[in-house]
Amino acid sequence: MTRREQIAALVREEMQELPVESAAAAEGHPLVLPPYGADEVIDALDALLSTHVTMGRRCRDFEATWATYCGRKHGVMVNSGSSAVLLMLAACIATGRLSPGDEVLCPAVTWSTSLFPIVQCGLVPVMVDVDPGTLCISPASARAARGPRTRAVIAVHLLGQPADIDAFDDDLLVLEDACGAHGAQYKGRRVGSLGGAASFSFFFSHHITTIEGGMIVTDSDALADAMRSARAHGWVREREDRAGWVSRHREIDPRFLFVSSGYNLRPTEVAGAFGLVQARRLPAWVARRRQNHRDWSAKLRELVGVFEEAPGTEHAGFAFPMLVRPGRDRASLMAFLEARRIETRPISGSNLARQPAFASLDARCPVPLTMADAVHERGFFVGNSHAFGPEHGERLAAAIAQWSQT
Ligand SMILES: Cc1ncc(COP(=O)(O)O)c(C=O)c1O
Repeated sequence: MTRREQIAALVREEMQELPVESAAAAEGHPLVLPPYGADEVIDALDALLSTHVTMGRRCRDFEATWATYCGRKHGVMVNSGSSAVLLMLAACIATGRLSPGDEVLCPAVTWSTSLFPIVQCGLVPVMVDVDPGTLCISPASARAARGPRTRAVIAVHLLGQPADIDAFDDDLLVLEDACGAHGAQYKGRRVGSLGGAASFSFFFSHHITTIEGGMIVTDSDALADAMRSARAHGWVREREDRAGWVSRHREIDPRFLFVSSGYNLRPTEVAGAFGLVQARRLPAWVARRRQNHRDWSAKLRELVGVFEEAPGTEHAGFAFPMLVRPGRDRASLMAFLEARRIETRPISGSNLARQPAFASLDARCPVPLTMADAVHERGFFVGNSHAFGPEHGERLAAAIAQWSQT
């Protein structure tokens, strides 16, 4: 055995108990299970031992793999899903698709960093209610909220349920936030391929993980190049159109040729190594999450409000959201479940317009956020995972049925 093979064998031995494929080793019904195994660690160690640790071949390979999976031409990998949303919007401005002051429709129920990057890019968020069936942005509410400067919509595929993209007006730029919807499908098309560009997160608790990490996918050469510059200091290096820039600026060292404003949002090769292994695992994992979502919905629909897979879509089952019936106390149910080792948490940021941070944002809130309020007051979720199965749904239903009698 070579030394590398010895290291790999030790890692496999050390990690064999981790519940990467089965929940047997986990206690109860946690929100998150450690979602990686020995293969990810061995490939990440390979990157570390090679000393090629900053963004390089592995990240590029993962970008190509993920773009292909989503049916897109380009993938631009970054260090988080939040960075992906920020970069996607920044690139829309850099390429003239949006201008500072333009309005962007944003669902009131989503993660905070679907919303904050809109403001950070000098755009104006317009808060829109969510659909009672899907928890995704409501097209009817979006139509009512539109104003003369509304140019774009952040269509968030919340918790694995695709938003109803085709219902949006044709003149809006549709940007997908697919940070929690890896592998979901809408009318036979994979999320990520439905709008002008789409963001994904590979945080530890998501369908697949690079520990921290994210990516934007798009078919647009101009958007991809704008993102490649803005991701890394504004320089020209990773752009596909760099030859033209270099020839127009021969007086500047091409390694340090800055062609746009930029951040540093780069991923590492450890993240790239994780992503390549995790991408191979994803199809089977999404199938199991979807099966859990349908199975648990059937078991729970008589007890609480559930969000069943919408017709024409394939739900990717990020988590399992529920709504307690009006008049029932959400906190008491959450405590009841926690006491039975079923972990709970609110649905994303709940109604973001009711979070203290919202008061400081230059945003518009022109329509009633009725469903978002219901989510704020009565919504919560429990974990879904490729490592869970029908027994988790049965335990959950039994516990909620018991609580219903209290
Ligand atoms: C819809 C949505 N957008 C953005 C993000 C941010 O991703 P990250 O945690 O990788 O920054 C998340 C995180 O869960 C999310 O669910």
